[in-house]
Amino acid sequence: MQATRRSILAALLTAPPALMLRGTAEAQELPLTPACGDSPAPTVAQTAGPFYTPNAPLKRDLFADAPRGRRLTLAGFVVDRQCRPVPGALVEIWHADQDGAYDNRGHRLRGHQLTDAAGRWGFNTIVAAQYPGRTAHYHFRVQAPGGRPLITQLYFPDDPRNRSDGLFDARLVLKMSPNLARFDFVV
Ligand SMILES: [Fe+2]
Repeated sequence: MQATRRSILAALLTAPPALMLRGTAEAQELPLTPACGDSPAPTVAQTAGPFYTPNAPLKRDLFADAPRGRRLTLAGFVVDRQCRPVPGALVEIWHADQDGAYDNRGHRLRGHQLTDAAGRWGFNTIVAAQYPGRTAHYHFRVQAPGGRPLITQLYFPDDPRNRSDGLFDARLVLKMSPNLARFDFVV
């Protein structure tokens, strides 16, 4: 049995990232390499807002935190300013639930992870709702190893409240497909 466990572990460790993500929306829709040209513009920074809580857990599956929410996978790459994937980058998310509420006492709908060897990140979570004064959005903190943190927010492309939200930035819009909302961070 131990040999079997060892061989499974060895297979997982040597598997290409796409195989390790098999069965997830990321594997189906995220290409193996980013396509952003030779010198992509750095991702625009935005305010962290009042609802950041430090020490979010290492966690990629957040949907269980909000069972009434509509599930959505957010995923993409972290790349540098030459469009090279950045493995081991910290990607942290925090966002409101389906009612527009943040968990400010615990870590519900909050988590972090490190990008894989291909520079990919992904969170299985829910559709965040708008709350007074804000259109729907997700907060992110992204940091390449040894780099400075990028704090920003991502938005849906078709939310009518985008127009009335002074923080909305069209450069921070998620690219939507049926099972995946994609964004590539350039740091
Ligand atoms: Fe917010």
